[in-house]
Amino acid sequence: MDAKRLRELDNQTVWHPFTAMSAYRDESAPVIVEASGFHLFDAEGRRYLDGHSSLWCNIHGHRVPAIDNAIRDQLDRVAHTTLLGLSNVPSIELAAELVRLAPAGLNKVFYSDCGAAGVEVALKIAYQYYRQRQSSSDAVARNMFVCFDGAYHGDTIGTMSIGSIARFRNPYSPLLFPAVWTSVPSASLADPILEQQQLDLWSQELERLLELHRDAIAGVVIEPLVQAAAGIRTQAAGFLHRVRELTRRFDVLMIADEIAVGFGRTGTLFACERESVSPDLMILSKGLTGGYMPLAATLVTDEIYDAFLGDPWAGRTFYHGHTYTGNPLACAAALASLNLIECNRVLENVQLLEATLRNELAALDRHPNVKTIRQQGIMVGIELESESGPYPPESRCGHRVTLACRQRGVIVRNIGDVIVLMPAPAMPQELVIELCQTVGMAIADTVP
Ligand SMILES: Cc1ncc(COP(=O)(O)O)c(C=O)c1O
Repeated sequence: MDAKRLRELDNQTVWHPFTAMSAYRDESAPVIVEASGFHLFDAEGRRYLDGHSSLWCNIHGHRVPAIDNAIRDQLDRVAHTTLLGLSNVPSIELAAELVRLAPAGLNKVFYSDCGAAGVEVALKIAYQYYRQRQSSSDAVARNMFVCFDGAYHGDTIGTMSIGSIARFRNPYSPLLFPAVWTSVPSASLADPILEQQQLDLWSQELERLLELHRDAIAGVVIEPLVQAAAGIRTQAAGFLHRVRELTRRFDVLMIADEIAVGFGRTGTLFACERESVSPDLMILSKGLTGGYMPLAATLVTDEIYDAFLGDPWAGRTFYHGHTYTGNPLACAAALASLNLIECNRVLENVQLLEATLRNELAALDRHPNVKTIRQQGIMVGIELESESGPYPPESRCGHRVTLACRQRGVIVRNIGDVIVLMPAPAMPQELVIELCQTVGMAIADTVP
């Protein structure tokens, strides 16, 4: 099928996620046909640098021989069987590897297929854990979760309930369960005193909430270090650690959503490592398979797992799981990706890319329409603003910058007027320089 026909059929039949379809249909979006390394190629033969890691999940580039071969090898054995009452080799080996690499104490792995599902699993486990950890006569029903302004944990009913981004959540608000909200202190390189004040203020507020709702809160759900979908909002150093201390003190589960920040994006394999934090539950997805296949993993402690043990007829079982839970092809891809992160010293490359991004974007920071640039590791948000304040939504300024990037052969995505740069952790330095320069030129094209 030629490019024109593909685009016609796309417009006639495909409903794209998180996409304003009325505008999309006029934008001649690239139809990707293949990829090589860190580049994507469309049906018209144009080449694009993948500047957003194919929605924040690609780690080593595309068509990586070691991952391709791992999937092919597994395909020669079996593509799919169920984890409901059976097992398969890659899911066992991957669970063992995740337990080895994860923060101490996270010894059990529950699989699902996407980030939102992995967080739903964590919410259900936390709720059921408190009902079952004591004998049923003194079990307590804790059904509240503490969540943070700016949080995004997915688009299912449960994850929207603990998410705060208004345009994703508000249309469905009558369907959502109530949660308890508080703020995250922001990182502020320019003003460390203000950062410390914010850290103290919001830690005290969290403490107040935990005290107020003692015995009703099942968990505090946090995106460690960076709220990605909020526009790469970076947190004050030390906050994650405070959350751990407070959740321990008040006997509340700490649930770390590492879906966006995991697998090297903040500089360590998991963001929690940066503050020596071991949460009670941790959710992984996106980069878990190197960006190849849909897979998520919810890791929990032995203490949580043990609360689900008992006679099969006692009602303590975790009744959750989907048809493709623990799919062998996805687990094989994940094993190969984890191996490459170690063998190729990907975390060392991240250190280099972190400094490169900082240097390359320094000049852009002085652009009159760049309000601020937030960076943690290799996650970057460039926030645009007009001389008189935020751009009106109908100007779609951020979106127009991404279209200008595309014209120049780079794919990035915006969140409102924040341009998100998310290079793959294994991307070579020269491509990251190209990414920064192209985005700088696209901003100049769009907001001269
Ligand atoms: C922190 C975080 N949690 C959860 C999700 C949802 O993941 P998925 O889109 O795979 O459901 C995302 C997606 O961007 C995310 O950034």
